[in-house]
Amino acid sequence: MKSSGTSFLERFLSNTKRERCFNIGSAVPFLLTCFFVASIFSFFLLYSPNPLSLIPDQPILLPPHKQHQRDSTDQLASPKPNFEQKRCDLFKGKWVRAPRESSYYTNWSCSSIPESKNCFKQGREDRDFLNWKWKPDACELQSFNPKTFLHIVRGKKWAFIGDSVARNHMDSFVCLLSQEETPVEIYKDSEDRYRKWHFPKSDFTVMSIWSRFLIVGEERTVNGSGINIFDMYIDKVDPDWANVVPDLDYAVISGGHWFFRAMYLHEADNVIGCVFCQQPNVTDYSIDFALRMAFRGVFNFLNNCQNCKKKTLVFARTFASAHFEGGVWNTGGYCNKTGPMSEAEVDWTSFEWKLRNVQMEEYERGTRQGDNRYEVVDVTRAMMMRPDGHPGEHWGNKWMRGYNDCTHWCMPGPVDFWSELLLALLLQRHPSSDS
Ligand SMILES: *[C@@H]1O[C@H](CO)[C@@H](O)[C@H](O)[C@H]1NC(C)=O
Ligand SMILES: *[C@@H]1O[C@H](CO)[C@@H](O)[C@H](O)[C@H]1NC(C)=O
Ligand SMILES: *[C@@H]1O[C@H](CO)[C@@H](O)[C@H](O)[C@H]1NC(C)=O
Ligand SMILES: *[C@@H]1O[C@H](CO)[C@@H](O)[C@H](O)[C@H]1NC(C)=O
Repeated sequence: MKSSGTSFLERFLSNTKRERCFNIGSAVPFLLTCFFVASIFSFFLLYSPNPLSLIPDQPILLPPHKQHQRDSTDQLASPKPNFEQKRCDLFKGKWVRAPRESSYYTNWSCSSIPESKNCFKQGREDRDFLNWKWKPDACELQSFNPKTFLHIVRGKKWAFIGDSVARNHMDSFVCLLSQEETPVEIYKDSEDRYRKWHFPKSDFTVMSIWSRFLIVGEERTVNGSGINIFDMYIDKVDPDWANVVPDLDYAVISGGHWFFRAMYLHEADNVIGCVFCQQPNVTDYSIDFALRMAFRGVFNFLNNCQNCKKKTLVFARTFASAHFEGGVWNTGGYCNKTGPMSEAEVDWTSFEWKLRNVQMEEYERGTRQGDNRYEVVDVTRAMMMRPDGHPGEHWGNKWMRGYNDCTHWCMPGPVDFWSELLLALLLQRHPSSDS
């Protein structure tokens, strides 16, 4: 990842998006849009060298969407089954002071922490951000118990599907489990997009599957280089993950960070709209519409998947917001807070929260009443309160030439709590495993 990342970074920096925008169009709104798109969110290109290396082979066609609505208030599905209504809402709560569990990993006891997330190794000195625990309003969230977890998932296959933040989650998950059983790495690609671990004693397999949009999205190229404009096929899910699902027992699906780009939305060979392109004959949508269509496509696929084992349990993880302050990633934005924010300090009108709401709406819409195959892992609220959890300058400076990483999460760090949620959700289904 490091070597190809650097060369990609060089290519990227020598080819500024602003120039491309001047070449492509002349309308002022378009330029502003280009600037917005390029400056705020091209960050993720840096984390994903060579975005063109994965051209999906066999797109998987979805049944047609019934309608496209920008407004979603009218499309909530019927209420959840009773057993869910009785559960504690794990996602509404606050961060309370509590020393980090001594049974959790450190940068010494987990050897697989990626350099870019190993914040202490990279020079982060404050450690107090580890001493906070999520407290749901209506119950306690148990600490992560790797033994219990491995007992529940014995003999199973588990995948984290999504972008580099999904991979971040897998890395944390593997470190947490590694305190009970040492995993064996059985696959890793050169760009660190696909990775597979096996826990031999528990015969448990964990993998990350790279799918930045979840649906098929292809970057347009000019003379062989990508121009940061994407063609999105909202009726085709990305085969890179969809082909794997039939073989899985568990999947954690997430996405969102790649959607802040100029996009043409295709359905059944027609362009039905676009995001950030502002052409007179194409309907202009906002980013959350593209994300909505991607999530809708995911559930549409899963609900209609003939080959899928009916027992595959799908966790939909909601958006984890970045925390740039004082600028964006390439204009000096930073994140050097050392503790959580209270609920009152968070801007709940922010776009990140809106993206989460879109994901929740599509989850409600896509999962049928009584269908036991889905869970939501709604991390957004808790993570919006954790501006202190990112590598920030303690990686950025070394690798990204002064840019801060306020998007991914330090390990150890608050990202470990996502796996506490996974365990809590599994225990609600397997109460007898609780020991
Ligand atoms: C762990 O973090 C310390 C700083 O707290 C650092 O000196 C050390 O190199 C790190 N070790 C590993 C193996 O990453
Ligand atoms: C693409 O390459 C051709 C031939 O080298 C050149 O004439 C053209 O200007 C290039 N287009 C762009 C947009 O760079
Ligand atoms: C929109 O109009 C432009 C200019 O007439 C044309 O080049 C383009 O193909 C049109 N786009 C669609 C989706 O019809
Ligand atoms: C955080 O970084 C900004 C910009 O570098 C700086 O002005 C500020 O003093 C820093 N705050 C802390 C608490 O270190």
